[in-house]
Amino acid sequence: MKLEAIGNLGHRLMLARTLPPRLVLAKIAKRLPWSNRRSVRVSEILHSPSDLRPDRLLEFYRTQEALLSERKSRSPIDFRGRNVIEIGPGPLAGWGPMAIFRGAERVYGVDPDWVDGAFSDPAVEAAYLRPHHMALSEAFGALMPFEEFRTRLADKLTVEARGLDAAQPEFTADIIISNSCLEHIVSLDVALMSLANLSAPAVRFMHLVNFGNHRDRLSPFSTIYEMSPSDYRRRYGNHINLRRPSDLHAAFAAAGIEAEMTIVDQPHEKVAGVDVHAYWKDRYCTEELAVRTALFCEPTNGGEK
Ligand SMILES: C[S@@+](CC[C@H](N)C(=O)[O-])C[C@H]1O[C@@H](n2cnc3c(N)ncnc32)[C@H](O)[C@@H]1O
Repeated sequence: MKLEAIGNLGHRLMLARTLPPRLVLAKIAKRLPWSNRRSVRVSEILHSPSDLRPDRLLEFYRTQEALLSERKSRSPIDFRGRNVIEIGPGPLAGWGPMAIFRGAERVYGVDPDWVDGAFSDPAVEAAYLRPHHMALSEAFGALMPFEEFRTRLADKLTVEARGLDAAQPEFTADIIISNSCLEHIVSLDVALMSLANLSAPAVRFMHLVNFGNHRDRLSPFSTIYEMSPSDYRRRYGNHINLRRPSDLHAAFAAAGIEAEMTIVDQPHEKVAGVDVHAYWKDRYCTEELAVRTALFCEPTNGGEK
C-alpha cells in the first residue's frame, strides 16, 4: 500500500467516526464505478449538516468583508449588473446564489468536482435553496421573491466541471471570488495566468486562502511543517499545493495581478507546537509560517489601520 493511501486512510477513518452515518454511506457510494453521480451528490448534500446550513457560506463572506472594511477601509463589492467568476464554489454553487440575489448580471463558476443537475434537484431546492433564500433576504433585505431568484439562477448562473485553467466564461469578470480554493490548485501559476486573461481592467477580487493542513483544526500545521513537500505529497497526496503567502504573492505577480494580502488568522503557538523541518525553516520566517488564513484582494488605497 502506498504511503499516500495510508495517510488518507487515517483521515478517512477519522472522518467516518465524526460524520453522520448516511453521509459516510453516500461518500462510499461515490467511489463505486456504477453509482449515479447526480443522485450520490444529492444524497451527500442532503446528509451533510454543514452543507445544509443556509447561512454558512454567507457568514464566511460577510465576516471577510467586515474584516477588510475594518482593517483596510475596503468598500463592499457591489454585485449589481456585474459579471462574476467564482473559483471552486463547491457543490452548492458557493457564493453564486448570493451574487445573483444581489443583482449580478452573470455568474460563472468553475469546479472540477461539480456534478451537473445536483444543485437544481428538487430535494436540494427544498433543503438548501429555499432556506438560503431566506437567509439572503434577512441579510440584504427582500431584494427578490423566491420564484424570481430561482428563475435568475437558472438564467444567469453557470457552473462548469473543470479547473480554472480551462475556464471559458464568455465574459471578462468585474468580480472574482473564491473561498478556500486557491490552495487546492496544483498548477496555480498556470491557473492564475488564465485568471488574469479573464479579468476586466478594474476587477475586484477576494480570495480566502487556508494555509493549514485541512485535516486538524487544533494543529493546522502539523504534518505540513514536519516534513519536506515531497515527503508530504508522498504521504498525503496533492490535496493542497503547500504554497505559503510569499509564494502566492509571487504567483499573482507573475500573472500580472497586483494583490494585497490581509492576514485573517496567524496562530504563532500552532507553529511553536510543531517540530519544523529544515525545508521550511530555511525558506520562510516564523511569521509567515504562522499564517493560517489570509485574504488576497486588489490593492486598496488605505492600509492596515
Ligand atoms: C475546500 S473546497 C471549498 C468549496 C467552497 N468554496 C466552500 O467554501 O465551501 C475547495 C474547492 O476547490 C475546488 N477546486 C480544486 N481544484 C480546482 C481548480 N483547479 N479550479 C477550480 N476549483 C478547484 C474543489 O473541487 C473544491 O470544491
